[in-house]
Amino acid sequence: MCGIVGYIGPRPVLPILIGGLKKLEYRGYDSSGCAAVTPDNTMLVFKAKGKVSNLEEKTKECQQPCTLGIAHTRWATHGIPSETNAHPHLSQSGNLAIVHNGIIENYATLRDQLRKRGYTFKSETDTEVLVQLIEYIMNIRHSDLATSVRSALRLCIGAYAIAVVDRRVPTQMVAARKSSPLAIGIGKENGEFFIASDASPIAEYTNRIVYLNDEDVALIEQGKELQIENLHSGSVDYEIKEVDLDLTMLDKGGFPHFMLKEIFDQPTVLKDCMRGRIIERDGSLRVVLSAVEQHKQRLVSARRFTIVSCGTSWHAGLIGKQLIEHFCRIHTEVAYASEYRYNDVVVDPDEVVIAISQSGETADTLAAIEIAKKHGAMVFGIVNSVGSSIARQTDTGTYVHIGPEIGVASTKAFTGQVTVLAMLALALGHERGTVDHEEYEEVLRELTRIPDKIDHILRQNDRIRDMARIFTYAHNCLYLGRGWNYPVALEGALKLKEISYIHAEGYPAAEMKHGPIALIDQDMPVIFIATHHRLYQKIISNMQEVLSRKGRIFAIVTEGDEQVRNMCAEVIEVPDTLACLEPLLTVIPLQLLSYHVAVAKQLNVDQPRNLAKSVTVE
Ligand code: G6P
Repeated sequence: MCGIVGYIGPRPVLPILIGGLKKLEYRGYDSSGCAAVTPDNTMLVFKAKGKVSNLEEKTKECQQPCTLGIAHTRWATHGIPSETNAHPHLSQSGNLAIVHNGIIENYATLRDQLRKRGYTFKSETDTEVLVQLIEYIMNIRHSDLATSVRSALRLCIGAYAIAVVDRRVPTQMVAARKSSPLAIGIGKENGEFFIASDASPIAEYTNRIVYLNDEDVALIEQGKELQIENLHSGSVDYEIKEVDLDLTMLDKGGFPHFMLKEIFDQPTVLKDCMRGRIIERDGSLRVVLSAVEQHKQRLVSARRFTIVSCGTSWHAGLIGKQLIEHFCRIHTEVAYASEYRYNDVVVDPDEVVIAISQSGETADTLAAIEIAKKHGAMVFGIVNSVGSSIARQTDTGTYVHIGPEIGVASTKAFTGQVTVLAMLALALGHERGTVDHEEYEEVLRELTRIPDKIDHILRQNDRIRDMARIFTYAHNCLYLGRGWNYPVALEGALKLKEISYIHAEGYPAAEMKHGPIALIDQDMPVIFIATHHRLYQKIISNMQEVLSRKGRIFAIVTEGDEQVRNMCAEVIEVPDTLACLEPLLTVIPLQLLSYHVAVAKQLNVDQPRNLAKSVTVE
């Protein structure tokens, strides 16, 4: 999703802007642009379709010194991806430039009113309307930039993170946010400042970050103290956070793609996720989550849990439901955040709403949190991105701690979220007395073995790559699983469609006979998750149904399985584990499979078409 970078200070601005945009590439975009102001008040604007490297080529010719600039990666919402629609957008006079993430919902009304006052528009975007509105207000009220921005934003309905510069004041920038993240970095040199959609473009320069809150407008002036005013409550006492982002975590570490690196990261990062939380003392294991310790009473007495999330995080939520119901015996619902926010939901004040999000910025999940809070529910966040909006807006929570995830298709975040959900369910179950001590320790012990078992599966990477070639010719695929592995079937199908553009569906295996069975023929691969557990024999019957329709079966099986192997074109073995932890293993071959299919099809694995890493619009 769109990304913003800005800089004001003594260093040459263009390399900082381009470098910053590259760090935000993971969010997904289709065009980019930047504006830089020279000390003699000229506004330079560069735009390019496609990759940031195209923009970089254009800026290379620029020899002028500039020390104020804003830049943007755009993911089209209003108007096609094109240079005209790319940001920054200029005001009618060319004095102001703006970059914007989000959507101004009443832009058409505002545009009509501005047109009546003689304004014309070059692009189809809502953003151009906003910059024209700021200029209009500036002209009629003779107000300064910050005041005009505040007045304009009061007239806007919707979501925004913006940065605005005025070529006549090359020492100043105004930034604001509502429902779309924006961070301000306080630099080390001569009163410099950085702004960005998240801390990653800023981290190499400073770790002192101020996160804007909703409806905050910041006046950023070189060499002066940062000033923040809220649209409604006036001057803000902001907090400077010291954020330590591990820069090495942003590199590909020798892998050809971030996605492959992140799949291979899983054994290490899951250990990080459990570190300090699963504790061994005198030979016995305990799980300690500080959020559970602090809010024990409320969590333990919850009458119901509702999990809200989107995409892969929603699939993790489906496993979370089973974990919580199994270990805590508390009724748990799982809702798409986008539906929850608009449904006439019944929220019990004794309920706990769990919001799961890798990025911590997903607009629908944020809106669902707001609804839950309005109804008096406690909101517990399971978030990866430290300091993100969801992390700040939840009452309490547990960070996933698996490091930044860059590949658009989520991999390590999924296993990290499931690991946190397992720890949470065990911690609460233990407190409630709904899990017996032996099982509690057994599951915790097995959880600590999962990283090594994943490592073992990853060693089959070459075999999975060879198998992937078969799938490059498929137009449709079916993923089937039951019980704990039904959400894994959904996740496997999502991974394949996201990056290989092959239509894939995940289904509970027994449900196949109620529709998808009609699609089965020799051309459609069917992938079963058929591990040795309670429903093993039932899954085998489902496989027979596919075989008798000449379907080709591929299966994820438990090591040593012979029965399923004999029914399949290919099998991938995973080590045996407890049924409730199986998703942490069975998903790994499916991640690798979709990765290799996309590579074989020569597609852009890390930034698939039309998708964004962080979906900050609804
Ligand atoms: C986007 C991403 C998915 C992700 C979903 C939810 O669609 O492409 O990979 O699962 O958003 O994101 P979140 O950051 O809230 O987990």
